Formats: sequence, structure tokens, C-alpha cells
Amino acid sequence: MKILLCGATGFIGAETLDQCLKHNYIQHIYCLTRHELPTKYSTHAKVTQLVHEDFSQYPESLLDKLSAYKIEGCIWCLGGRSMASFKNKEEAETVGIHYPIQAANAFATRLATKLDPDKPPMKQKYPFRFVFVSGWGAEQDQFRSLWMWNDSRKIKGAAEKGVFDVADTSEEIKGKRCFEAIALRPGTVLTGGDATTTLLSEAVVPCIAVDRLAKCAIKMVLEGTGYPEKRVLENGECLGPDWAMINSLRV
Ligand SMILES: NC(=O)c1ccc[n+]([C@@H]2O[C@H](COP(=O)([O-])OP(=O)(O)OC[C@H]3O[C@@H](n4cnc5c(N)ncnc54)[C@H](OP(=O)(O)O)[C@@H]3O)[C@@H](O)[C@H]2O)c1
Repeated sequence: MKILLCGATGFIGAETLDQCLKHNYIQHIYCLTRHELPTKYSTHAKVTQLVHEDFSQYPESLLDKLSAYKIEGCIWCLGGRSMASFKNKEEAETVGIHYPIQAANAFATRLATKLDPDKPPMKQKYPFRFVFVSGWGAEQDQFRSLWMWNDSRKIKGAAEKGVFDVADTSEEIKGKRCFEAIALRPGTVLTGGDATTTLLSEAVVPCIAVDRLAKCAIKMVLEGTGYPEKRVLENGECLGPDWAMINSLRV
């Protein structure tokens, strides 16, 4: 599978890129970033770096290039860790809502429509999957009043709603929509997947090790959830079956 990775220079994106490089079913990773990737990635045979400064726009020249690559899915880890990552609420909304929806729109119309639903899944994936790294407590209802993290949860919810709308109105090819969106809602993302403290934290509060989250994002872009109506994965679902290994932990 050929995938597009947005946010590869960040904490979650870099782990996702590392895992994609080791993954046998991922043939090539196209990284769309505003800054250059470290040399170990930019010179890697499985990576093509595309520097793109303004994620609110997708010029024809870029879309032509992406379309020629026959990309089959996208993992979107672009954003900010918290509201504090941005200058103000307006910037947080631009990056958190406008950017993923614009991208989903561009990819649904220009990349997903190029895929062939009749090709065997081992040759080419269909539909195009857009895996959006959302966040714990994302609230799609913009009128609901929330006691905690009102702005960040509504920003994530508005983005989810926007990318799901793109999926629901995407072109149907041979009776099946060409674009599918899946939202992952991790709580706090931690380092050190196998550390006892990480496993114990995952058991009691909404949080997840970055390696488990990246593994989940890759699984979703490759296979989807398996059910068209299931398109949100809560933190506990992102932990995945490996996490059950905690039952065999001895302390
Ligand atoms: N970390 C957590 O605990 C956590 C928990 C739940 C959800 N999430 C969500 O996961 C996503 C990624 O988080 P992270 O922890 O990996 O964040 P991060 O380390 O700050 O990485 C953010 C990524 O987004 C890119 N980016 C940010 N603003 C941009 C802009 N204006 N234009 C282009 N690229 C931009 C950054 O590119 P540059 O390197 O060029 O700045 C970087 O690649 C975010 O949406 C976040 O809300 C994170």
C-alpha cells in the first residue's frame, strides 16, 4: 500500500513513519510536511518527501503529483498537542478544523476517485481511507456546553464531523463510496509502550503509548474498522489486542 502521511515531523507522526518503514505491507510513504524531514527519513528508499507550506490549499500541481503516485490512504497526525501549541483560538481552529477538512476534500475528489474498486485488495486498496488522529472527548455537537477542555474537544469534533461529511458525499464508484474516514480518539499519548508505568496508566486513565497508537493508525489505513458504520475508535479501542498482554504482566 502507498500512503500519505501528514504530520510526520511530530511526536505521533514520527513514530508512525518509523513503523511504516518496517511494515511489509506498506510499499511507500509520501510525507507532506512544511519542514524538511531528518536525513535518515528523506534519503530512505521507501520515503518521498513533499514540502508543502500552506495546508489550507492544495494546488493543482501538488494534486497532480499525488494522483500520479496512486496513493491509497492517508494518516493525518498534523495538529497541535494542546491549545497551548497555537497562538490563539483562531489558529487552533484553522489548523485543527480547516486543514483536515480541506485535505479530506482534496484527497476525496482527486486521489480517491483514481482508485479501482475491482482491483484485488492485495494489488490496490479501495476505498481510500483517511485516518484522522482526533482526541479523547471529541465533541461533534458544537452547541453542547462542556465542563472540561471545551475548545479543544469541539475543535476535534468539528473536524471529525467535517471529514465524515466528505466521506458521506464522496463519489460512488460501482456502488461504493471512494473515500472513507476513521477518527482515532487517543487520550494523552505516552512514550515507552512496554514500561510498567505506561501499562498501568493505560489501565486507569484515557492514555495510550505512542507505539500502540501508531500501530492502530496503520491497521486502520490498511484494513479499516471492518464495519462501515463504525468510524470512531475511542482510546480503549485504539489500545488494540496487544494491550491485553497486561494480563500476563508480573510485578
Ligand atoms: N500528543 C498527545 O498527547 C495527543 C493526544 C491526543 C491527540 N493528539 C493529536 O494528535 C495530533 C498530533 O499530535 P503530536 O503530539 O504528534 O503533535 P506534535 O508533536 O506537535 O506534531 C504536530 C505535527 O503537526 C505539524 N503542524 C502543526 N501545525 C502545523 C501547521 N500550521 N502547518 C503544517 N504542519 C503543522 C507539525 O509540523 P512541524 O514539525 O513543521 O511543526 C508536526 O508534524 C494532534 O492533532 C493532536 O491534537 C495528541
